[in-house]
Amino acid sequence: MLKKRIVVLSGAGISAESGIKTFRDSGGLWEEYDIMEVATPEAWERNRDLVLEFYNQRRKQLYEVEPNDAHYALVELEKAFDVHIITQNVDDLHERAGSSQVMHLHGELKKVRSSVDESLIYDLDGWELKAGDKCEKGSQLRPHIVWFGEPVEMIPAAAELSGTADIYVIIGTSLNVYPAAGLVSYVLPGTPIYLIDPGEINVGYIPGVRFIKERAGTGTRQLVKELMGEV
Ligand code: OAD
Repeated sequence: MLKKRIVVLSGAGISAESGIKTFRDSGGLWEEYDIMEVATPEAWERNRDLVLEFYNQRRKQLYEVEPNDAHYALVELEKAFDVHIITQNVDDLHERAGSSQVMHLHGELKKVRSSVDESLIYDLDGWELKAGDKCEKGSQLRPHIVWFGEPVEMIPAAAELSGTADIYVIIGTSLNVYPAAGLVSYVLPGTPIYLIDPGEINVGYIPGVRFIKERAGTGTRQLVKELMGEV
């Protein structure tokens, strides 16, 4: 029998219980750092060392944390469903938990790319990208991250995937950043939509959404149990 397709859109909140800070919560990364100073092409031009250091610290931390219950629950879901994850996260915790179909919208921390040819993408050895580390064309390597003001190349594929969902699940995202936050509008009318987040999310624009106001670990386990029972 053909498995039903579940498409998951995840954000920083799914990795919070692994110990990775979110961006916009109180105490989040964008309180500590100015987005414009570390996550834009202009910042890269103006203060390359600060940008390198910001992402080096994120990458270093990634080697110190582990996937949590929410990541693992989504892996379990693959036993009964065709699960596709669209993540805004640049960590690799979905992959490390064992999810087999993961699309990264905003890039990947453990990868770096050429600053003159964006098709030249490399796995970085270790956590530190240094000034002077160059691609095969001789230009400085940069983090493989979609910065503010840069196009999100994966959006057409993510929109198409969203339109094929039998069930859509949104976990741990403030839905503040477009175009990612607009993906839900590609979900076909009548498709069950779940949103798991302990925060106050404006869900008014998502018709029929069931808001599970829980942390990712608890909420995802609960939903997976429910969905598996339905099969
Ligand atoms: P945000 O920091 O904007 O939102 C985090 C969400 O996680 C909030 O809705 C919180 O309520 C929720 N949250 C906090 N703890 C949680 C927990 N234990 N379980 C579940 N949810 C929890 O992060 P994103 O929406 O992912 O982009 O941000 C989107 C993009 O903005 C990021 O990909 C990043 C950022 O700037 C780039 O850097 C390009």
